[in-house]
Amino acid sequence: MERTFLAIKPDGVQRKLIGEIIARFEKKGYKLVAMKYIVPTRDLAAKHYEEHKGKGFYEGLLDFITSGPIVAMVWQGKGVIATARKMIGQTKPLESECGSIRGDYGIEVGRNIIHGSDSLDSAEREIGIWFKEEEIFDYESSLDVWVY
Ligand code: TYD
Ligand code: MG
Repeated sequence: MERTFLAIKPDGVQRKLIGEIIARFEKKGYKLVAMKYIVPTRDLAAKHYEEHKGKGFYEGLLDFITSGPIVAMVWQGKGVIATARKMIGQTKPLESECGSIRGDYGIEVGRNIIHGSDSLDSAEREIGIWFKEEEIFDYESSLDVWVY
């Protein structure tokens, strides 16, 4: 089953949006298979955002993402990578549809609440950065038969 890496950024945690965000993915029918609450080290954040190294916003992005606790998660289900991106919205909250997380809760690109992997390759890479295989729990759920 497909998996993606999602993280509630420090602004989402400080603004008390953890429950709201997790509820959206749960209600959709996706399964939370791994989660940790951590202040990322700069090394970890740099690895996560290595594709953006050298860009103007990169150092500020690392300052921001390491500035407080985040909720790092792995979510599982059919089409979860692309659908989670849809549920998250566009990179810029003001360009995001109402109904998406960034569209409903954000204004600034540098305070856009949540991260989501953008492809199968980045999902696999990011899950590997943040989680060990033994920290991921693909449990059986009797509800699955009502989702699929
Ligand atoms: P990016 O991977 O382009 O966006 P997304 O999170 O939608 O995949 O950029 C990573 C993060 O970098 C983005 O969520 C917010 C930050 N960022 C800026 O602060 N300024 C910018 O101009 C861009 C493009 C991104
Ligand atoms: Mg991205």
